[in-house]
Amino acid sequence: MLISVIGCGYLGAVHATCLAHLGHTVVGIDSDRELAARLDSGRPSVYEPELESLLTATLATGRLRFTADPSAAAGAEVHFLCVGTPQLPDRPAADLAALDSAVDALLPYLTPGDLVVGKSTVPVGTAERLNDRIAAAVPGASCAWNPEFLREGHAVADTLRPDRLVYGSAPDDERATAILNRVYASVVAAGTPVIATDLATAELVKVAANSFLATKISFINAMAEVCEAAGADVTVLADAIGHDERIGRQFLGAGLGFGGGCLPKDIRAFGARAAELGADRVADLLARVDEINLARRDHLTRLATEACEGSVIGRRIAILGAAFKPNSDDVRDSPALAVALDLQRRGAHVRVTDPQAGDNARKRSPELTVVDSVAEAVDDAEAVLLLTEWQQYRDLRPADLTGVRRPVIIDGRNALDPTTWREAGWHYRAPGRPSPTRQR
Ligand code: UDX
Repeated sequence: MLISVIGCGYLGAVHATCLAHLGHTVVGIDSDRELAARLDSGRPSVYEPELESLLTATLATGRLRFTADPSAAAGAEVHFLCVGTPQLPDRPAADLAALDSAVDALLPYLTPGDLVVGKSTVPVGTAERLNDRIAAAVPGASCAWNPEFLREGHAVADTLRPDRLVYGSAPDDERATAILNRVYASVVAAGTPVIATDLATAELVKVAANSFLATKISFINAMAEVCEAAGADVTVLADAIGHDERIGRQFLGAGLGFGGGCLPKDIRAFGARAAELGADRVADLLARVDEINLARRDHLTRLATEACEGSVIGRRIAILGAAFKPNSDDVRDSPALAVALDLQRRGAHVRVTDPQAGDNARKRSPELTVVDSVAEAVDDAEAVLLLTEWQQYRDLRPADLTGVRRPVIIDGRNALDPTTWREAGWHYRAPGRPSPTRQR
């Protein structure tokens, strides 16, 4: 099939590449010329395992190209909308400006029979509005919604082998499901469940999934608060409740909480939309989830302050991790960076390091000192904070951190074994785990 993918950020670049890999002829269109040229020469703009090799391989087939020219959409029968829907600067709601201008730019090139497919995360009701607009401008063209659930760090695998495919279409749009089944023919043939539904349900599936994941993380972080107060261990508690199949162990990682370009802004936008629709209890629930999550960052600062005997002023603090999660170079709403900035503002001398996100951290927070290795970060440090659980940080042993001034470690992600560190003479603290004083 001839397919255009509009918006070539994280989602669009991966989607275009994967569709070409599945055998389609794909043009990725992005108004950012530099980004389009970069992708067209096989260089992804994000660190994403598997993407660079797949991009190079699919570009070489001649079935994939990237351009900034919107007229390249002409002739394609399916047009995926993959533009960002960030949080508005002044309100906790989604900014749909990029989505609306993508549709504006696409309309002149649509022909009857074309299917526009939204993948961006949007407030419920957006797809119906766009469908009305597209059908009015180009009779016989329509808009469907096919939300994307990919995780950063697993984006290619999640796109080629998704847990499920969700297709939303208008009641009178009989063709959408058949067209999408052709787009995803090999994915469907592999047994992936397909849920074909209305536009509003499809839009809501995405925000409901992200809200559930965020709620699960905040639930275990709320339990971490209780565990710490009661002298219990949240990691053992999570293991124990996670054995119940109805609960499951995934997303019960207690610690510094969630960040990134999706969960925080999606729960805020969904809360705002739910409130508009009069579903105040959903808005309240998500506000609490957000609040619990943000409080984890303050708690980490408190643990670091306690470990520095009540004040971080003038203390040298090493921070391991800047990305919002491991296997990513993304620092958007990164809990690790938020804690680093907070401690620096409170007078600490902070040194941050990250295996992949150092450059992005420098760009986003030029006031921070970002160094290239763990050894540089911990040199003469009075406290070491592990804030993003990269595997190489999980694998650290006390003997690896010989350069520190004081053996103090705060394990913000519950990624280390407390016994190993305490037996080696370190002061070890982690959110949701009993403190040594409490244990005594
Ligand atoms: C998320 C959703 O998982 C994905 O389906 C959606 O399409 C986009 O948003 P992503 O932002 O890539 O994906 O990251 P995810 O793996 O979900 O992690 C989100 C945040 O939660 C990270 O900051 C991570 O560190 C944190 N997290 C995750 C926890 O704090 N504890 C956990 O147990 C799991």
